[in-house]
Amino acid sequence: MTQLAKIHKGILRWYSKEARDLPWRRTHNPFRILLSEVMLQQTQVQRVLQKYPEFLKKFPSFDSLARARASSVIRAWRGMGYNNRAVRLRKLAGEITHKYGGKLPRTIRELESLPGIGPYTARAVSCFAFGQRAPVVDTNVHRVLRRILPKETQRRRIWDVAEWALPRRNAYSWNQSLMELGSRICVARNPKCPVCPVEKICPSAFKKHIAFRRNGAAEPGRNGIPNRIYRGRIVETLRDSRRSVKASVLGRRVVSGFREKDEPWLVRLLKGLERDGLVRIHNHRKKTEVSLAR
Ligand code: ADE
Repeated sequence: MTQLAKIHKGILRWYSKEARDLPWRRTHNPFRILLSEVMLQQTQVQRVLQKYPEFLKKFPSFDSLARARASSVIRAWRGMGYNNRAVRLRKLAGEITHKYGGKLPRTIRELESLPGIGPYTARAVSCFAFGQRAPVVDTNVHRVLRRILPKETQRRRIWDVAEWALPRRNAYSWNQSLMELGSRICVARNPKCPVCPVEKICPSAFKKHIAFRRNGAAEPGRNGIPNRIYRGRIVETLRDSRRSVKASVLGRRVVSGFREKDEPWLVRLLKGLERDGLVRIHNHRKKTEVSLAR
């Protein structure tokens, strides 16, 4: 048996016994698959498990999402973080409704041409909803492949290695199993090699130095808190408010020790949020006021 065949066998057998029963593994509905992928890209599985059914109850299809107001979609996104995704998803739903009659196209090329669908999401949908033999590489899968196939991943681009490593059949289970392994066993720090199904044949098992890769530069922020967190707090505050809020009032709600000199910084954040379709800025009696997008 080749090394790759051993890897397939070990990981697929482990997955058939250990796979978590997750709602997006019980469906091939394109809307449901797409929604799960968008949610899972930046939010922990536990949180998504809670929000996914709630969101689907309010918005069960592309059509319902396309018809909804931005503000109600942003409100339904509460608790998920990275609120841009709510706005992009609604825009995408509009495009699918108008250009494709409410049905997601099936080819990777068409999927990638849609706003907000990148190489990862296009392939995830192609494989998980449409049963195509497409490689799927997110952060977890990337790490697993780098560790188990170090020579190949050093020489070739990760997407090419992932394509090469796909088993002839079972692409769906293979992709899901790599994600499962990456999120439960082959984790970034302190991987759990002793309980890994391919420990014996993995060239990186216990070479912990590969596990520690520091991230790049610190994110821009204020008081040691990244702007991303403030953006989240701003949207959170506006979700609870039916009316517009003065920038200075908003500043005091989201930044401890907010002062007048902080206003230009706050306005920059607000303008960014406005460009992303999350908020509206109005000028009222020379004062800046803000509300959630409509
Ligand atoms: N992360 C992204 N997609 C996933 C999936 N289908 N299952 C588990 N985690 C995921």
